[in-house]
Amino acid sequence: MAEDRNILREHVYDGIQEYDNGLPRWWLGIFYASIAFSVVFTPWITFGGWSQAGQYEEEVAEADAAWPGGEGVASPAAAGPTPEMAAAGGAIYATHCASCHGAQAEGGIGPNLKDAEWIHGGGFAEILKTVVDGVPEKGMLTWGPVLGPEKCAQVAAYVHGLGGGT
Ligand code: HEC
Repeated sequence: MAEDRNILREHVYDGIQEYDNGLPRWWLGIFYASIAFSVVFTPWITFGGWSQAGQYEEEVAEADAAWPGGEGVASPAAAGPTPEMAAAGGAIYATHCASCHGAQAEGGIGPNLKDAEWIHGGGFAEILKTVVDGVPEKGMLTWGPVLGPEKCAQVAAYVHGLGGGT
């Protein structure tokens, strides 16, 4: 099959004639392999229950469960603000928050975070919610997707521990 038989076919199209050669083995191999694959894949994709929408929903549910305030028991928020969290949050604050809230949290573009005045509440959970969701219409960024659950909880613990937290 692989060797050229070099038998010219009789028909001529526009002066072009062709040989009656067999298909290359590598090509046939891929062809049969794709048929074999389809026999397995078609029933699997049709009846296997997998769907893009289903996978999306599963991943969203997992992410929701992992978030502070989500369903997940092991969410960082459940641990409450510990001194370790607050300590880790200090560096995050300096990097991401000081530009608006001031190096000493004394306020600037964003409000003072160490006094007892709160727009959105000074409890740990309330601060965490403000950090995660942000107040986009007032210029406070939505930090959840940027920092992730753990760092949000840490920086919220830091802010909560600055003195004004209730
Ligand atoms: C681009 C500027 C900006 C950055 C950066 C920023 N914030 Fe804010 N933040 C604001 C503004 C503006 C407000 C006021 C929102 C309002 O008026 O509702 C605010 C409000 C807040 C509040 C609520 C204060 C209250 O009185 O209830 C908290 C808590 C807070 N920010 C924490 C953080 C933390 C933590 C970070 C860093 C991860 C951060 N912010 C980064 C601008 C910023």
